[in-house]
Amino acid sequence: TRTQVAIVGAGPAGLTLAHLLRRQGVEAVVLERRTRAHVESRLRAGVLEQPTVDLLRELGLAARLDAEAMTHRGVRLRFAGATHRLDLSGLTGGRAITIYGQHELVKDLIAARLADGDPILFEVDEVELSGLDADPVVRYLRHGRRRELRCSIVAGADGFRGVTRGYLPGTVFEQLQPFAWLGILARTAPSSDELVYAAHEDGFALHSMRGPALTRQYVQVPPDVDVAAWPAERIWQTLRRRLGHGDGLDLPVGPILDVTVAAMRAVVTEPMRHGRLFLLGDAAHIVPATGAKGLNLAVADAAALSYAIGAWAGGAPAELDRYSSRCLDRVWRTQRFSVWLSQLTHRLPGEDAVDRRLRETALSELVSCPHTGAAFAERYVGQPLPTPW
Ligand code: FAD
Ligand code: DHB
Repeated sequence: TRTQVAIVGAGPAGLTLAHLLRRQGVEAVVLERRTRAHVESRLRAGVLEQPTVDLLRELGLAARLDAEAMTHRGVRLRFAGATHRLDLSGLTGGRAITIYGQHELVKDLIAARLADGDPILFEVDEVELSGLDADPVVRYLRHGRRRELRCSIVAGADGFRGVTRGYLPGTVFEQLQPFAWLGILARTAPSSDELVYAAHEDGFALHSMRGPALTRQYVQVPPDVDVAAWPAERIWQTLRRRLGHGDGLDLPVGPILDVTVAAMRAVVTEPMRHGRLFLLGDAAHIVPATGAKGLNLAVADAAALSYAIGAWAGGAPAELDRYSSRCLDRVWRTQRFSVWLSQLTHRLPGEDAVDRRLRETALSELVSCPHTGAAFAERYVGQPLPTPW
């Protein structure tokens, strides 16, 4: 079979691209390694930037999001024993962040695509690419049968552990941060109506949520952490200590539903293109999670790529040549923000008392100086997408 664009990976990047291409009349087939049930229940990000939400609304994909998601107009920063509020909306002319689980978004994007009658092939294995110079062919195994999909363009949206990034001969910039996150999903009511980022001298903690009775929290742990060393009691004690039980949050204890470890790394692949293969999302780059940018960056890449492919389909192929550099500019700015915020809020190995005071000073400038606060808020709620959608 043949299609215009083969999209490898049904995460936020691949699915958003598929919807944007459809709107421009470009045909695509999405190939996904896992089952539909698996991708619809995989626990990942939770913060959507304003431009991400605006794009989803414009595509008519935000009905459930608008009914169920939480809008946050501010964010709390806790350091030196006190909690401070940053008025995100006040500092950005009314913009906000939206709390909506990534798997809920993925569910919405899949349902809408299938309702349109457009293909997503789940349980596709052993994806192999060839002909990337001119005439791409995607070979794969599905339900025991070998298949071939011919196309004009391959979009590699299969994440950091996918196969498409392996076809890029360019440079991979990679830095592992000296800390990781233990992610905890618990059946407890959130203790704050906004997210709380805590820079405690023991280490970082983050209080987030997925609904009125579901919290999503993170604590800084060493990269080589053994999850067995973190029984529920230790998790709650650590969260209470770092988030400030009593003077900070009144954290109720409840059943823990899930505990996972996430490494923190900064990765950028340059360029994000090789011949007819274009990478987007986590396949092309990873940002440390602290800034809540990964999913949003995936959507921004999808917007840029759909624009370039739309132009190509309309007879202006030069836009494809601009895709990588256009994305990389935003990618490195987002990388800088994410690494900076991580280092500002985490305990770093080998740090001393002076380092801690300097960090507290930077944090207090953030909540007391309107210019510094506004610069942060602009980046946190998200900068406009690269194309006029
Ligand atoms: P993915 O979501 O990884 O999707 C890739 C898809 O490709 C998957 O469905 C996968 O099954 C499929 N695939 C893989 N290999 C193959 C193959 N060989 N063939 C076919 N299909 C394949 N980002 C934020 O913006 N805000 C946050 O709050 C946030 N918090 C996070 C918290 C944690 C704990 C983690 C781990 C990440 C967080 N992120 C956050 C990052 C965010 O989840 C990712 O950046 C996002 O998933 C990227 O989307 P993607 O579509 O590029 O990749
Ligand atoms: C969440 C994840 C983040 O990385 C972050 O900065 C804020 C919230 C979350 O999963 O809710």
